[in-house]
Amino acid sequence: MTTDAPSPVVVDTRPPATPLLQVKNLTRHFMVSGTRIDVLHDCTFDVSRGEVVAIMGQSGSGKSTLLNVLGLLDRPSSGSYVFDGMETAPLREGRMSRLRGDGIGFVFQQFHLLERRSALANVSVPMVLGGVPALRRRSRSRELLESVGLGHRLHSQPHQLSGGEQQRVALARALSREPSLILADEPTGALDAASSTMIMDQLIDQSRVRDAAVVVVTHDAKVAERADRVVVLVEGRTH
Ligand SMILES: Nc1ncnc2c1ncn2[C@@H]1O[C@H](COP(=O)(O)OP(=O)(O)O)[C@@H](O)[C@H]1O
Ligand SMILES: [Mg+2]
Repeated sequence: MTTDAPSPVVVDTRPPATPLLQVKNLTRHFMVSGTRIDVLHDCTFDVSRGEVVAIMGQSGSGKSTLLNVLGLLDRPSSGSYVFDGMETAPLREGRMSRLRGDGIGFVFQQFHLLERRSALANVSVPMVLGGVPALRRRSRSRELLESVGLGHRLHSQPHQLSGGEQQRVALARALSREPSLILADEPTGALDAASSTMIMDQLIDQSRVRDAAVVVVTHDAKVAERADRVVVLVEGRTH
Protein backbone atom coordinates (compact mmCIF):
# COMPACT_ATOMS: atom_id res chain seq x y z
CA MET A 1 0.00 0.00 0.00
CA THR A 2 1.25 3.46 -0.76
CA THR A 3 0.77 6.40 1.53
CA ASP A 4 0.15 9.94 0.45
CA ALA A 5 2.43 11.43 3.05
CA PRO A 6 4.25 14.36 1.51
CA SER A 7 7.92 13.73 0.94
CA PRO A 8 10.07 15.68 3.37
CA VAL A 9 11.19 19.02 2.07
CA VAL A 10 14.96 19.13 1.92
CA VAL A 11 16.29 22.65 2.00
CA ASP A 12 19.78 23.08 0.66
CA THR A 13 21.23 25.84 2.78
CA ARG A 14 24.68 25.75 1.17
CA PRO A 15 25.57 28.94 -0.66
CA PRO A 16 25.56 28.48 -4.44
CA ALA A 17 28.99 27.33 -5.59
CA THR A 18 31.13 29.99 -7.24
CA PRO A 19 31.84 29.04 -10.86
CA LEU A 20 35.34 27.65 -11.36
CA LEU A 21 35.85 29.97 -14.34
CA GLN A 22 34.47 33.49 -14.55
CA VAL A 23 35.20 35.35 -17.75
CA LYS A 24 34.03 38.93 -17.99
CA ASN A 25 34.39 41.41 -20.85
CA LEU A 26 37.57 39.67 -21.84
CA THR A 27 39.50 40.93 -24.87
CA ARG A 28 42.72 39.82 -26.56
CA HIS A 29 44.56 41.59 -29.33
CA PHE A 30 47.91 40.95 -30.99
CA MET A 31 50.33 43.45 -32.44
CA VAL A 32 51.65 42.29 -35.80
CA SER A 33 54.22 44.58 -37.49
CA GLY A 34 52.80 47.59 -35.70
CA THR A 35 49.20 46.74 -36.58
CA ARG A 36 46.75 45.78 -33.89
CA ILE A 37 44.66 42.68 -34.57
CA ASP A 38 41.64 42.41 -32.32
CA VAL A 39 40.82 38.73 -31.94
CA LEU A 40 38.61 38.56 -28.85
CA HIS A 41 36.36 41.61 -28.46
CA ASP A 42 34.09 40.79 -25.58
CA CYS A 43 33.81 37.39 -23.99
CA THR A 44 31.63 36.85 -20.96
CA PHE A 45 30.65 33.47 -19.54
CA ASP A 46 31.07 31.20 -16.51
CA VAL A 47 31.79 27.52 -16.21
CA SER A 48 31.11 25.58 -13.01
CA ARG A 49 32.53 22.31 -11.76
CA GLY A 50 30.49 19.40 -13.05
CA GLU A 51 29.68 21.22 -16.28
CA VAL A 52 30.64 20.43 -19.86
CA VAL A 53 30.67 23.54 -22.05
CA ALA A 54 31.25 23.41 -25.80
CA ILE A 55 32.75 26.39 -27.59
CA MET A 56 31.82 26.65 -31.25
CA GLY A 57 32.67 29.19 -33.91
CA GLN A 58 34.13 29.50 -37.38
CA SER A 59 37.76 28.87 -38.06
CA GLY A 60 39.68 31.99 -37.07
CA SER A 61 37.00 33.21 -34.67
CA GLY A 62 39.38 33.06 -31.69
CA LYS A 63 38.52 29.74 -30.06
CA SER A 64 42.11 28.63 -29.51
CA THR A 65 43.09 32.13 -28.38
CA LEU A 66 40.32 31.97 -25.78
CA LEU A 67 41.31 28.48 -24.67
CA ASN A 68 44.93 29.59 -24.20
CA VAL A 69 43.74 32.34 -21.86
CA LEU A 70 41.48 29.92 -19.95
CA GLY A 71 44.45 27.56 -19.65
CA LEU A 72 46.72 30.28 -18.24
CA LEU A 73 49.03 29.92 -21.23
CA ASP A 74 48.22 33.49 -22.26
CA ARG A 75 46.72 36.59 -20.67
CA PRO A 76 43.80 38.77 -21.65
CA SER A 77 44.53 42.25 -23.06
CA SER A 78 41.69 43.60 -20.91
CA GLY A 79 38.74 42.35 -18.93
CA SER A 80 38.75 39.77 -16.23
CA TYR A 81 39.46 36.06 -15.92
CA VAL A 82 38.85 34.62 -12.47
CA PHE A 83 40.02 31.02 -12.07
CA ASP A 84 39.02 29.17 -8.91
CA GLY A 85 38.14 32.42 -7.20
CA MET A 86 41.39 34.16 -8.16
CA GLU A 87 41.75 37.09 -10.54
CA THR A 88 44.50 35.94 -12.87
CA ALA A 89 45.59 39.30 -14.31
CA PRO A 90 48.05 40.22 -11.53
CA LEU A 91 49.54 36.73 -11.12
CA ARG A 92 53.22 36.25 -11.82
CA GLU A 93 54.40 33.72 -14.38
CA GLY A 94 55.58 31.19 -11.76
CA ARG A 95 52.23 31.22 -9.98
CA MET A 96 50.36 30.88 -13.31
CA SER A 97 52.45 27.89 -14.23
CA ARG A 98 51.89 26.19 -10.86
CA LEU A 99 48.15 26.77 -11.08
CA ARG A 100 48.23 25.35 -14.60
CA GLY A 101 50.17 22.25 -13.57
CA ASP A 102 48.07 21.58 -10.49
CA GLY A 103 44.67 22.43 -11.81
CA ILE A 104 44.39 22.21 -15.58
CA GLY A 105 44.59 19.34 -18.06
CA PHE A 106 44.93 19.94 -21.81
CA VAL A 107 43.91 17.83 -24.80
CA PHE A 108 44.75 18.95 -28.35
CA GLN A 109 43.53 17.92 -31.78
CA GLN A 110 46.97 16.60 -32.77
CA PHE A 111 47.56 14.72 -29.49
CA HIS A 112 51.08 16.20 -28.97
CA LEU A 113 52.55 12.97 -27.59
CA LEU A 114 56.30 12.33 -27.30
CA GLU A 115 57.06 10.14 -30.31
CA ARG A 116 59.77 7.80 -29.06
CA ARG A 117 58.23 7.22 -25.66
CA SER A 118 55.74 4.60 -24.46
CA ALA A 119 52.16 5.32 -23.53
CA LEU A 120 53.18 4.89 -19.87
CA ALA A 121 55.98 7.45 -20.21
CA ASN A 122 53.71 9.92 -22.00
CA VAL A 123 51.04 9.74 -19.32
CA SER A 124 53.74 10.26 -16.66
CA VAL A 125 55.00 13.59 -18.06
CA PRO A 126 52.81 15.95 -15.98
CA MET A 127 53.54 13.90 -12.87
CA VAL A 128 57.30 14.15 -13.51
CA LEU A 129 56.87 17.93 -13.72
CA GLY A 130 54.72 17.85 -10.58
CA GLY A 131 57.32 15.93 -8.58
CA VAL A 132 55.25 12.76 -8.11
CA PRO A 133 57.56 9.89 -7.00
CA ALA A 134 58.49 7.33 -9.67
CA LEU A 135 56.67 4.32 -8.25
CA ARG A 136 53.48 6.28 -7.76
CA ARG A 137 53.77 7.67 -11.28
CA ARG A 138 54.05 4.24 -12.73
CA SER A 139 51.05 2.78 -10.92
CA ARG A 140 48.94 5.84 -11.60
CA SER A 141 49.84 5.88 -15.31
CA ARG A 142 48.92 2.22 -15.57
CA GLU A 143 45.57 2.82 -13.82
CA LEU A 144 44.80 5.76 -16.08
CA LEU A 145 45.61 3.86 -19.25
CA GLU A 146 43.45 0.97 -18.04
CA SER A 147 40.62 3.42 -17.35
CA VAL A 148 40.70 4.63 -20.97
CA GLY A 149 40.76 1.05 -22.27
CA LEU A 150 44.47 0.90 -23.07
CA GLY A 151 45.66 -1.50 -20.39
CA HIS A 152 47.02 -3.72 -23.18
CA ARG A 153 48.98 -0.86 -24.79
CA LEU A 154 51.13 0.37 -21.91
CA HIS A 155 54.42 -0.04 -23.78
CA SER A 156 53.28 1.03 -27.24
CA GLN A 157 54.72 4.18 -28.79
CA PRO A 158 52.45 6.69 -30.53
CA HIS A 159 53.28 5.46 -34.06
CA GLN A 160 52.09 2.00 -33.05
CA LEU A 161 48.68 3.34 -32.01
CA SER A 162 45.63 4.49 -33.97
CA GLY A 163 44.53 8.14 -33.77
CA GLY A 164 41.76 7.25 -31.34
CA GLU A 165 44.19 5.35 -29.13
CA GLN A 166 46.71 8.21 -29.21
CA GLN A 167 44.00 10.62 -28.14
CA ARG A 168 43.10 8.31 -25.25
CA VAL A 169 46.74 8.37 -24.16
CA ALA A 170 46.65 12.18 -24.38
CA LEU A 171 43.47 12.22 -22.31
CA ALA A 172 45.00 9.91 -19.68
CA ARG A 173 47.98 12.29 -19.55
CA ALA A 174 45.65 15.27 -19.09
CA LEU A 175 43.93 13.53 -16.19
CA SER A 176 47.08 12.41 -14.41
CA ARG A 177 47.07 15.18 -11.83
CA GLU A 178 43.30 15.17 -11.36
CA PRO A 179 42.71 18.64 -12.79
CA SER A 180 39.66 20.61 -11.75
CA LEU A 181 39.52 22.02 -15.30
CA ILE A 182 39.95 20.08 -18.54
CA LEU A 183 40.44 22.08 -21.73
CA ALA A 184 40.12 20.28 -25.05
CA ASP A 185 40.83 22.04 -28.35
CA GLU A 186 39.02 20.12 -31.10
CA PRO A 187 39.89 16.81 -29.41
CA THR A 188 37.85 14.79 -31.90
CA GLY A 189 38.82 16.78 -35.00
CA ALA A 190 41.19 14.09 -36.26
CA LEU A 191 39.15 11.06 -35.15
CA ASP A 192 36.52 8.78 -36.64
CA ALA A 193 33.00 8.74 -35.21
CA ALA A 194 33.53 5.79 -32.85
CA SER A 195 36.71 7.25 -31.36
CA SER A 196 35.06 10.67 -31.04
CA THR A 197 32.21 9.14 -29.08
CA MET A 198 34.65 7.38 -26.76
CA ILE A 199 36.64 10.56 -26.07
CA MET A 200 33.45 12.53 -25.43
CA ASP A 201 32.17 9.76 -23.10
CA GLN A 202 35.34 10.07 -21.08
CA LEU A 203 35.27 13.87 -20.95
CA ILE A 204 31.65 13.80 -19.78
CA ASP A 205 32.57 11.16 -17.19
CA GLN A 206 35.17 13.52 -15.74
CA SER A 207 32.50 16.13 -15.11
CA ARG A 208 29.97 13.67 -13.69
CA VAL A 209 32.24 11.42 -11.64
CA ARG A 210 35.00 13.82 -10.56
CA ASP A 211 33.06 17.08 -10.71
CA ALA A 212 35.61 18.58 -13.12
CA ALA A 213 34.75 21.52 -15.36
CA VAL A 214 35.22 20.62 -19.02
CA VAL A 215 35.54 23.12 -21.88
CA VAL A 216 35.67 21.58 -25.32
CA VAL A 217 36.19 23.51 -28.55
CA THR A 218 34.50 21.68 -31.39
CA HIS A 219 33.18 21.93 -34.93
CA ASP A 220 31.20 18.76 -34.50
CA ALA A 221 27.49 19.23 -33.79
CA LYS A 222 27.36 15.69 -32.35
CA VAL A 223 29.99 16.62 -29.79
CA ALA A 224 28.33 19.95 -28.98
CA GLU A 225 24.90 18.44 -28.46
CA ARG A 226 26.30 16.28 -25.65
CA ALA A 227 27.59 19.33 -23.77
CA ASP A 228 25.48 20.91 -21.04
CA ARG A 229 25.82 24.29 -22.72
CA VAL A 230 27.21 25.77 -25.93
CA VAL A 231 29.04 29.10 -26.08
CA VAL A 232 29.22 30.44 -29.63
CA LEU A 233 32.07 32.76 -30.62
CA VAL A 234 31.20 35.13 -33.43
CA GLU A 235 33.84 37.65 -34.44
CA GLY A 236 35.45 37.46 -31.03
CA ARG A 237 32.24 37.88 -29.04
CA THR A 238 30.55 35.16 -27.01
CA HIS A 239 26.88 34.44 -27.51
N1 LIG B 1 50.04 35.05 -31.54
C1 LIG B 1 49.28 35.58 -32.49
N2 LIG B 1 49.69 36.66 -33.18
C2 LIG B 1 48.92 37.21 -34.13
N3 LIG B 1 47.70 36.75 -34.50
C3 LIG B 1 47.24 35.68 -33.85
C4 LIG B 1 47.99 35.04 -32.82
N4 LIG B 1 47.27 34.00 -32.37
C5 LIG B 1 46.12 33.98 -33.08
N5 LIG B 1 46.10 34.99 -33.97
C6 LIG B 1 45.01 35.31 -34.91
O1 LIG B 1 43.80 35.28 -34.20
C7 LIG B 1 42.76 34.78 -35.00
C8 LIG B 1 42.06 33.68 -34.27
O2 LIG B 1 42.91 32.56 -34.15
P1 LIG B 1 42.51 31.26 -33.34
O3 LIG B 1 42.24 31.63 -31.95
O4 LIG B 1 43.55 30.25 -33.60
O5 LIG B 1 41.12 30.85 -34.07
P2 LIG B 1 40.31 29.48 -34.05
O6 LIG B 1 40.92 28.59 -33.04
O7 LIG B 1 38.90 29.88 -33.74
O8 LIG B 1 40.41 28.93 -35.43
C9 LIG B 1 43.38 34.35 -36.31
O9 LIG B 1 43.16 35.36 -37.25
C10 LIG B 1 44.84 34.24 -35.96
O10 LIG B 1 45.65 34.50 -37.09
MG1 LIG C 1 41.76 26.69 -33.14
